[in-house]
Amino acid sequence: MKNIGLIGWRGLVGSVLIQRMLENNDFTHYSQLNIFFHCFSTSQVGKQSPSIANGCNTLLDAYSIEQLQQMDIIICCQGSDYTKQVYSKLCDSGWNGYWVDSSSHLRMHQDATLILDPVNYQAITQAISDNRKLFIGANCTVSLMLMAINGLLKQDLVEWINPATYQAVSGAGAKAMRNLLQQMGGLYNHVNSDLQNVASSILDIDKKINHWSATSNDPANLFASNVIPFIDSMTANGQTREEYKAEVEANKILNSNQHIAIDGLCARVGAMRCHSQALTIKLKKNLSLATIEELLADSHEWIDIIANDAVATKKQLTPLATSGTLRVKIGRIRKLTLGNDYLSLFTVADQLLWGAAEPLRRLLNILVKAT
Ligand code: HSE
Repeated sequence: MKNIGLIGWRGLVGSVLIQRMLENNDFTHYSQLNIFFHCFSTSQVGKQSPSIANGCNTLLDAYSIEQLQQMDIIICCQGSDYTKQVYSKLCDSGWNGYWVDSSSHLRMHQDATLILDPVNYQAITQAISDNRKLFIGANCTVSLMLMAINGLLKQDLVEWINPATYQAVSGAGAKAMRNLLQQMGGLYNHVNSDLQNVASSILDIDKKINHWSATSNDPANLFASNVIPFIDSMTANGQTREEYKAEVEANKILNSNQHIAIDGLCARVGAMRCHSQALTIKLKKNLSLATIEELLADSHEWIDIIANDAVATKKQLTPLATSGTLRVKIGRIRKLTLGNDYLSLFTVADQLLWGAAEPLRRLLNILVKAT
């Protein structure tokens, strides 16, 4: 019998995780194995638990070390601040269970294994057999980049990567998703009457849009009709933390002797939940595009290679066409005029699935099978 604690199940990543577990009948499967789920809360302790919890039928206290200690595995989607407050206290109390987390706080901890099993399954199973107990989901942009170009990385073909990201508002949380839609509606309402009038001037409409954004009371979070080239906080060398994470987390996941230099620019765009990235990749050798596409496509079952033509690209290689699916799309694959070993591609995938919830769901499966 095992007890699994769920923390942060009501948040954005937690809800997607629960949804994926329900879609895959994971809860039914686990209850047949005598595995019980207990929902914890930071604010509604003692209230009725959702029906996914086949263990305790009231919400347990996410700040109670005593209650957390009863769990063999804890899946935490509550965020870094909570992990900072609770994890070390729980370990200091002598707890020896598995802590699985979606937030960044423990990612670079020396005992942490970053989880992305289509890329580093062996590192995960090795960590389990080495009795390591800390498994953390990587930054979403990093996970999606590695999911896309795993085929090239596995063959040690990559010298460096320069990403330019176009990150969806879901990466900034549920409130940002709502804000984007409200801003879209606000913009539309602001010029609606002019739009109905075919004789109105588009330049006058545009002026009104500019006025609308200039008078916004939250200019740093204007996502509609905008691109914001800054995500997270600043580091000492002028990189944002989002940009900094690319190299350190990717190399931690790949765990190879060959360090890969990765640096680029991360921007927020007005897409709902799919992150897109344009990658410039310096290859270690000149390969044909056919070979490159084959290596990319064969690396795992979720890759879709999109032909480099207008119709396929505009229809399929977009956040809207990818949202809510596990597909990792790669298109616009071509050699840059800079030289035959400079590869350019564009990739899109769902930030809440492979970028957050899915690696956690799959880790739980691997853990339950292995222990
Ligand atoms: N940091 C990411 C973003 C989300 O802001 O889009 C989670 O990894």
